[in-house]
Amino acid sequence: MHPLLARQLKRYCPQDGDARWDALVVAVDDAYTSFGNDHALVERTLEVMSLELGQRNRQLAEQLDEKQRMMDALSRTNEELLELNRRLNAAQAQLLQSEKMASIGQLAAGVAHEINNPIAYVHSNVNTLAEYLQQLGPLQAAWLSKEALLPPEEQTGLQDLRQAMDYGYIMSDLDGLIAESKDGLTRVKNIVQNLKDFSRVDSGEWEKVDVTDGIKSTLSLVRHELRDRIDVVCEFADLPDIECMLSQLNQVFMNLLVNAAHAIRDKGTITIATGVLEQEVWLRFSDTGQGIPPEILPRIFDAFFTAKPVGVGTGLGLSLAYSIIQRHQGRIDVQSTVGVGTVFTIFLPVRQPDKGPATC
Ligand SMILES: Nc1ncnc2c1ncn2[C@@H]1O[C@H](COP(=O)(O)OP(=O)(O)OP(=O)(O)O)[C@@H](O)[C@H]1O
Ligand SMILES: [Mg+2]
Repeated sequence: MHPLLARQLKRYCPQDGDARWDALVVAVDDAYTSFGNDHALVERTLEVMSLELGQRNRQLAEQLDEKQRMMDALSRTNEELLELNRRLNAAQAQLLQSEKMASIGQLAAGVAHEINNPIAYVHSNVNTLAEYLQQLGPLQAAWLSKEALLPPEEQTGLQDLRQAMDYGYIMSDLDGLIAESKDGLTRVKNIVQNLKDFSRVDSGEWEKVDVTDGIKSTLSLVRHELRDRIDVVCEFADLPDIECMLSQLNQVFMNLLVNAAHAIRDKGTITIATGVLEQEVWLRFSDTGQGIPPEILPRIFDAFFTAKPVGVGTGLGLSLAYSIIQRHQGRIDVQSTVGVGTVFTIFLPVRQPDKGPATC
């Protein structure tokens, strides 16, 4: 008999034998036994199902992990692609900028070449004119001394003529005019020479030169940006000639000087210092401008980063400078304090151990 049923009978039912009662008891007992078996079967089934569910659960968790790993890998690849894309854009923009600078250089060199000839003969003619004028001096003195011998009415006629044309002033002004013209021509010649030095299209290759010349010629080209409001202090050391592409370094100097000029709102100073340290030369461009806030300092060498208003800056000057310095196997550092100024220092090796191609 099912033990549960036996306990119930013992507690609640009469003990005397009654065939119908016994039959009922047997039927109930069978029902209990069958229920017990069913129950055990259900429990076993539940156990098996629970095992299967656990296993399925683990598989699902593993699949979920796998999916998560794939998602992470995908998002990493995506980020890498975005970064690659960004760098490609930046490289393309730099290429455009450097091509633009190169064509400006070529244009400048072309203009310089065209101006060079006429300036040379105007310069020579002015010198000859000055000599002729000097030679005419004694003749003029002789004429003047002979004037007193003329009849009085002719003397008066000549004096009137001289007065009408302001002869005295013209003669006294001639030397000044010649001197000013010579000075102007010398300045034009210098500008032309600076343009040629700056562009150096004739030597866009590696060369051994003193970079101070590059700084000087670039400086003379940006003078108009500095106008009267910015003092430029040059503390140039004696530098050894270094292996470089000067026309490209000139673009770096140009960008640093223009940036410094923009950073100085009113009046200020740009100091350019140079020096040698072991196998490197260093070039320091300091300004007393507004400085660079620390939050944007890490981004200034990024292509397209500009803090200038829309349409003023393209944000390519420093990124181009950075890649040119890298091409020279050098480095460029920046230190800045808001309200005090900014210092860019360039380090360049004297010799290039492993020269790359000359283009940017
Ligand atoms: N000397 C400096 N003083 C203060 N801020 C500077 C200086 N040099 C660069 N910066 C900051 O760095 C930013 C990036 O300079 P970068 O030369 O790359 O671009 P840009 O001058 O804005 O534009 P672009 O040179 O292409 O015309 C500038 O917008 C400016 O905010
Ligand atoms: Mg700039």
